[in-house]
Amino acid sequence: MKHTDIKDIVTKKEFLGTQVTVCGWVRTARDSKNMAFLALNDGTTLNHLQIVIDKSTDVVLPDGATKLGAALKVVGTVVENINNGSVEINAEEITVLGECPADYPLQKKFQKLETLREMPHIRVRTNTFNAVFRVRSVMAAAIHRFFQDRGFVYVNTPLITGSDCEGAGEMFKVTTIGYSNEYKTEEEYYADDFFGKKAGLSVSGQLEGEVAAMAMGKIYTFGPSFRAEKSNTVRHVAEFWHVEPEVAFAELPDLIELAQDMIKYIIRDYMEKCPEELKFFEERFEKGLTDKLLNVVNSDFAIVDYTEAIEILKKADVKFDYKVEWGCDLQSEHERYITEVVYKKPVFLINYPKEIKSFYMKQNADGKTVAATDLLVPGIGEIIGGSEREADLNKLLSAMEAKGMSTEDYKDYLDLRKYGTVPHSGFGLGFERVIMYCTGMGNIRDVIFYPRTVGNIR
Ligand code: 4AD
Ligand code: MG
Repeated sequence: MKHTDIKDIVTKKEFLGTQVTVCGWVRTARDSKNMAFLALNDGTTLNHLQIVIDKSTDVVLPDGATKLGAALKVVGTVVENINNGSVEINAEEITVLGECPADYPLQKKFQKLETLREMPHIRVRTNTFNAVFRVRSVMAAAIHRFFQDRGFVYVNTPLITGSDCEGAGEMFKVTTIGYSNEYKTEEEYYADDFFGKKAGLSVSGQLEGEVAAMAMGKIYTFGPSFRAEKSNTVRHVAEFWHVEPEVAFAELPDLIELAQDMIKYIIRDYMEKCPEELKFFEERFEKGLTDKLLNVVNSDFAIVDYTEAIEILKKADVKFDYKVEWGCDLQSEHERYITEVVYKKPVFLINYPKEIKSFYMKQNADGKTVAATDLLVPGIGEIIGGSEREADLNKLLSAMEAKGMSTEDYKDYLDLRKYGTVPHSGFGLGFERVIMYCTGMGNIRDVIFYPRTVGNIR
């Protein structure tokens, strides 16, 4: 169907005075005796295009064309809108492509995000979700460009896996055997299952990412990860998109530099490519969003030792729900205090106690901490988790033993330390979390198309 994008008509002067065909859905309609006005949106921009129907001419306004949500094709001439300096269409021919009955859920101008969440197939038609998903697309492209321009190889790591990367017991099982009381033991069950052993959905592509980095030097993954976390928070979903670079010959400071460069790059790109959406989010969801992002782009992130953070938190004049002690895992309230109240910018927390972090992290010389880093940002908390990896086979084996892990399941991974091991580092960025940060959307369920959370799937 030959037609012109509304975005082009509203932004490019060359259409003025010409006849065009536009297609879209009716967002608002006003119909009176002599004139009718329709606001048409085709998803290419947040701006609606005004269609003017002069009833004194022989142009026909077909039945159903003024119903909210109806799909139309309009042929007409682009003219200047004298009231606001933008353009509108003087309609010459209107075709209803798809009618829309009165039970269309978006009759009210503004609906609560909670209400919209109940209808993911409809909410994408609102300006909010149009903006969110366009920004998401632009940011995904920026991530690829950032890594591709720096010579990183994009690898697709398996989604179904036999090994648990994070070891936090949050894996979804993958099985083809339904409910059955035929099996006496778990081993018997899995032996009979599709893969002949226990399998699950991957929580992270890191272990395979390390395999690839040991061959190609610099790699990244960008795909879904799955976590059966029961935590019903505004920043957790069971299926999220994960960006995981892995770099050979890189130590923790190199990794921190890479993460900071990447975050700044994608924010700069977003600000440049999506000014309309940014303005929308600033007005509707987060006052000061633009200044916040400019500040991120223009200043260095803080780097703070975990031990120092604990001291700061202990001295803080605030009552936390969870008590702070050296060795404790930081809760979101602690992370947010550090980044929002103390530093007021993104903070790399480094050198965490080894007990609260994963087996693969490089053990520091103090014997107590590992060369890990989490990037904490105001408003959200952790958006990145990463580390230098333990490159020494014996140290890695002892960490696995201390965590009660079976080395048998990680034989391939251990081979990396046997055959030409090198210092290497990587991190995981939660894609939805960085979108939340850049849009001001307060709930992760509103930055992913079909959010999966505990008790909720469709
Ligand atoms: O900190 P995490 O668990 O680290 C890893 O998975 C490492 N294997 C990454 C690596 O070094 N390659 O997860 C990384 C990031 C978190 O910082 C968070 O942003 C995001 O993934 N994330 C989630 N996002 C949404 N919902 C969830 N349930 C998430 N769990 C983690
Ligand atoms: Mg983490």
